[in-house]
Amino acid sequence: MELRTEQDIVRARQAVRLAAQELRLGLVDQTKIVTAASELARNTVIHGGGGMMELEVVTEGLKTGLRLCFADEGPGIADLGLAMTDGWTSGTGLGLGLTGAKRLSNEFELDSAPGRGTRVTVTRWK
Ligand SMILES: Nc1ncnc2c1ncn2[C@@H]1O[C@H](COP(=O)(O)OP(=O)(O)O)[C@@H](O)[C@H]1O
Ligand SMILES: [Mg+2]
Repeated sequence: MELRTEQDIVRARQAVRLAAQELRLGLVDQTKIVTAASELARNTVIHGGGGMMELEVVTEGLKTGLRLCFADEGPGIADLGLAMTDGWTSGTGLGLGLTGAKRLSNEFELDSAPGRGTRVTVTRWK
């Protein structure tokens, strides 16, 4: 789904909540993945200039989980280490979105470079 406006962020949250419920994730895990999604969707809109969220149910052996991919073709991130530092922001945010999303997920992948856009993939296993 497209992420361009504040309303898109709300719809993304709702879609992730619904998918987490359908997967029968526990309430706490539902909230974790929804909160991570909210931060990453906001980054896509605010920092990435808009992009997409893809949502997929994944299985690995007997494990099942929810995987979310946020992708944009914005300016990218020059210093990934800095971006992954608690409290660091290039703007006026709290600088806890990326680090928070990482803590709230079981798997976290950040792929970005200046001029190449940004792709963040998070997975929460059941
Ligand atoms: N999709 C993105 N495109 C470009 N830069 C990003 C993106 N997501 C995060 N960043 C960079 O990483 C920094 C840290 O992100 P985050 O932890 O969410 O903090 P905040 O959004 O509060 O600034 C941002 O300030 C921004 O510079
Ligand atoms: Mg943020």
